[in-house]
Amino acid sequence: MRAVLASKNAKKLRELQDILGKQGVEVILQAEAGVDIEVEETGETFEENAILKAEAVRDQTGMIAISDDSGLVVDALGGAPGVYSARYGGEGLDDTERFKLLLRNMEGQNDRSCRFVSVICCALPNGDRILARGECQGVLLNEARGEGGFGYDPVFYLPDLGKAMAELTPEEKNQISHRGNALRVFQKELENYLNGTHQ
Ligand code: IMP
Repeated sequence: MRAVLASKNAKKLRELQDILGKQGVEVILQAEAGVDIEVEETGETFEENAILKAEAVRDQTGMIAISDDSGLVVDALGGAPGVYSARYGGEGLDDTERFKLLLRNMEGQNDRSCRFVSVICCALPNGDRILARGECQGVLLNEARGEGGFGYDPVFYLPDLGKAMAELTPEEKNQISHRGNALRVFQKELENYLNGTHQ
């Protein structure tokens, strides 16, 4: 099965391909399918945005399209940055400036619990869709650690592993991450769909 990823993020592609590749699913970036759209993420939930992205790319390509809408949910900030994680602080910031802003906004907060959330949507040419959600619980660090991953990984601490997400290898990250968890749910849902037992 060949699917197009509704994203320009090559790091997301690698995380998806590492897991879905084992199931015989080949995923390509939307640019490789000749698509150059930036879907407006107007939804208020990860689910709504995942559907918007996958269906827009499915409609442009006629192919099976897969999207991931993800973000960091910080309890002390009422769930922010949440669906606005990629745009936190405005479009002009890079990943490092964004997590530094987050740490500044968290100064003085004792409750540093947070979680990454990922919702995968697979939009099929016949109009069907498969949705899967995964989460990963953590604690916000006071300063960055590690060089791996992307986004908020350097400030996301995993107490059970004693490491920041950015200190994990790609394989270790996939085993415990929100995206890895969502993809494992997605694999099961896809199997059910292909067996005709999809709800
Ligand atoms: P999206 O492309 O709209 O789904 O934006 C997701 C944003 O959430 C990214 O730009 C990152 O800032 C953040 N994010 C999502 N997944 C991860 C991850 O695995 N590690 C670190 N940050 C992430």
